[in-house]
Amino acid sequence: GRVCLAYSGGLDTSTILKWLLNEGYTVVCYLANVGQEEDFAAVEEKALKLGAEAFVCEDLQRELVEEVVFKAIMCNAIFEDRYLLGTALARPVIARSQVRVAERYNCQYLSHGCTGKGNDQVRFELAFMALNPSLKVIAPWRLPEFIERFQGRNDLLKFAAENNIPVSSTPKAPWSMDDNIVHCSYEAGVLEDPDKTPPKELWTRTIDPVDAPSEPQEFSVHFKKGVPVKVVTGNTVATDSVELFKLLNKIGHDHGVGRVDIVENRFIGLKSRGCYDTPGLTLARLAHLDLEGLVMDSRVRELRDQFVTLTWSRQLYQGMYFSPEREFVENSIVFSQRSVSGVVRMAAYRGNAYVLGRSSDSSNLYSEQDASMDSLEGFSPMDTSGFIAIQAIRLKKFGLQKIKDGEP
Ligand code: ARG
Ligand code: SIN
Repeated sequence: GRVCLAYSGGLDTSTILKWLLNEGYTVVCYLANVGQEEDFAAVEEKALKLGAEAFVCEDLQRELVEEVVFKAIMCNAIFEDRYLLGTALARPVIARSQVRVAERYNCQYLSHGCTGKGNDQVRFELAFMALNPSLKVIAPWRLPEFIERFQGRNDLLKFAAENNIPVSSTPKAPWSMDDNIVHCSYEAGVLEDPDKTPPKELWTRTIDPVDAPSEPQEFSVHFKKGVPVKVVTGNTVATDSVELFKLLNKIGHDHGVGRVDIVENRFIGLKSRGCYDTPGLTLARLAHLDLEGLVMDSRVRELRDQFVTLTWSRQLYQGMYFSPEREFVENSIVFSQRSVSGVVRMAAYRGNAYVLGRSSDSSNLYSEQDASMDSLEGFSPMDTSGFIAIQAIRLKKFGLQKIKDGEP
């Protein structure tokens, strides 16, 4: 049989590659370019040298940014109040591309190096099954014979030595990383103690706010129907989706914006400690939230916050991207953004970002005149007496009952 293996060039997936070959499979190695720091040519060389039939790399940065990241910005996506979902956002486009490659090479199997304890195995496999249920999945880290043989890093190193798998001479970071255009995540290893402060050198996508410049950097984010369409800072203007997102990453990086260190609840029920470095998306989300304050209807916003944001974020976290419910919810995201056009001016400064001002031509909901209290068309201040009296009907009854019952 022929397997399409998600291959990173690291010790784990190189071991899986050799192991699959030893088991008699033909292997096509697949690597997604989602904007991670990577020597793609070196990974290709390694895969072919180890015996892969072919190596395929697809650049998915645009798909990722336009199809998924911009939706996350449009609904202010966030998981458990802290995590901006950097890894989860990339999984659907990676899985879809891996399926495309498997089909192109007539593979019958898909394989990956996800552990048996995480979210990623669920995300990849649910996506595979939704996109092409005829492809079978080989998850070595869940196969008894594989786990039996490779019980720790020493077993992997021993196998590497026996099978001429080159092992990088630079020492491996004592935690696991997942890097893409949205974020870099750091988990496991020494971070498993939730009380261990991440060392300064852990963070790769933001400088330490302590070392950030003492001058704030001003920038503006322009939105059209909730989608960022332009970012301007100084003389730099970016209008291409990938370029403007990278510019936000650069601003966030330089000023140390977007670090979080949390304990989260994985889909399979385990608690896990994760550190996330998410500069650009943190800035875009703040700018977008602010513009919504100016232009969005209050009740639409309330429903969206209580249902759409939570639901879409959970769907992405739990790997339910290729699902009818995600399509359903996403339509309401797009609908909710019809009037969300305008400009937010901001400053990034020492680990934070501040709004300096916002404007919009697309909504008449905010009116300086109405808010100023001097005049209001079709409404007199006396009308408010009735509004308050009616709101009070219920509260008066509730209060009287408390007095009667002698409750404080
Ligand atoms: N805990 C985060 C999530 O579930 C990050 C996962 C990182 N994945 C990885 N293979 N290192 O989205
Ligand atoms: C893994 O277990 O492969 C990474 C962590 C996760 O998927 O949550």
